[in-house]
Amino acid sequence: MDSFSIVPTGKPLSGEVEISGAKNAVLATMTAAMLADGVTTITNVPYLRDTKTMSNVLRVIGCRIDGGPHEFKVDTHGANHLEAPYELVSTMRASFYVLGPLVSRFGRCRVSLPGGCAWGPRPVDLHLKGLEALGANIEVTHGYVEATSNGRLPGGNFRFPISSVGATVNVLMAATLAKGTSVLENAAIEPEIDSLVDLLLSMGVKIEGRGTRSLVVHGVEEMHPGFSETIPDRIEAGSFLCGAVISRGKVKTTKCDPIHIKSLLDIFEEMGCIVHTGKDWAEVDASSRDLKPVHVEAVPYPGFPTDLQAPLMAVLATVPGESKIRDTVYIDRFKHVAELNRLGANISLEGNTATIKGVEKLQGAPVMASDLRAAAALVIAGLVADGETRVSRIYHLDRGYENFEAKMAKLGGMVVRLSDQS
Ligand code: EPU
Repeated sequence: MDSFSIVPTGKPLSGEVEISGAKNAVLATMTAAMLADGVTTITNVPYLRDTKTMSNVLRVIGCRIDGGPHEFKVDTHGANHLEAPYELVSTMRASFYVLGPLVSRFGRCRVSLPGGCAWGPRPVDLHLKGLEALGANIEVTHGYVEATSNGRLPGGNFRFPISSVGATVNVLMAATLAKGTSVLENAAIEPEIDSLVDLLLSMGVKIEGRGTRSLVVHGVEEMHPGFSETIPDRIEAGSFLCGAVISRGKVKTTKCDPIHIKSLLDIFEEMGCIVHTGKDWAEVDASSRDLKPVHVEAVPYPGFPTDLQAPLMAVLATVPGESKIRDTVYIDRFKHVAELNRLGANISLEGNTATIKGVEKLQGAPVMASDLRAAAALVIAGLVADGETRVSRIYHLDRGYENFEAKMAKLGGMVVRLSDQS
């Protein structure tokens, strides 16, 4: 298992970094390709462990993935093994996205339940209830979901009791090939959903309400292959900007959408940073500034994202005064608290609220990443800690950050990968 050695350079991060395509957008668009027979092209694909895992899931089903590392041509012509095995779904929950497309196009499939994740249970009940509302028969046996439909799904209406990105992805994809019109209420409105809607529109379905919580899907008998240019990864952009602020530097993220990270940029402004944005870039300047503590709540989009909760917490650990972060999306996503405290942070946890008392200096130490965003948080904390920080279980980070060390190096951060043998 690889680890990172982070040695502080004593200099703040500065410069420009180009943002890759969004992991969480492309995992959905890759599976949507299976709604049609033929070759769907996806560009700006990030080169990541998770996109490789999704390619393997699609290959098991019988698809071919051609093209280069950043352009996938997903050929679904041979898709006939309608099963996603435990070995793959358990390593990446988004593999569960194959359920919706497969049952709606082929009328049956068998997909492993994903099980828990690094920070606790993450149910899929809303995926299943939504598919049932569209007319699918769902049976859960021996750890697998067996979904069937007698001919095309009839379609139907479903109101998500809470906002769920994944359940919206699955149910929306299934609705495209349903016989009738389906109405999805309280759907998620994350940018990754818009990007999926855009691909589905290019495949020939009619969807009203893009960007709103109410999606009306007029199902079609057949979809044709489509095209998707993957949107920029807002969480990657936010993570590098957190690196800028923790090191009191100045970083410009390019090829990103500043609207997607407005909630984070607003927080940085409230803390006292100078923020500039353009059409496809954002720049945060935290140099020579006394930063102020903040109170933050992680909520569904367009609010502050749970995926940036850990990186922001690392930043706040260095800001004088008392900050608070409450996570309302994942109330138990706090494994990084103990690790940040190993680096000398002063963070206490009560329920789903972390109270962060800023310390003057973090101290390097060996720490362990529990998920990919926790990994990013520990690395950026290491940038400013006294002495070397070793972050183990870096495979988490490799799931979602392309070329991470090289991008950090470009900004002046020294993050060195140590392979097993070292
Ligand atoms: N939930 C249910 N039942 C369900 C589905 C979700 O109770 O059937 C709950 C979850 O437990 C959670 C809330 O609903 O409390 C929201 O979860 P959501 O379904 O939106 O999360 P997800 O689709 O499983 C995606 C991202 C996550 C990101 C969350 C929240 C992908 C592949 N994953 O997960 O990304 O944290 O949305 O924005 O898109 C990451 O990239 O590090 C990551 C974990």
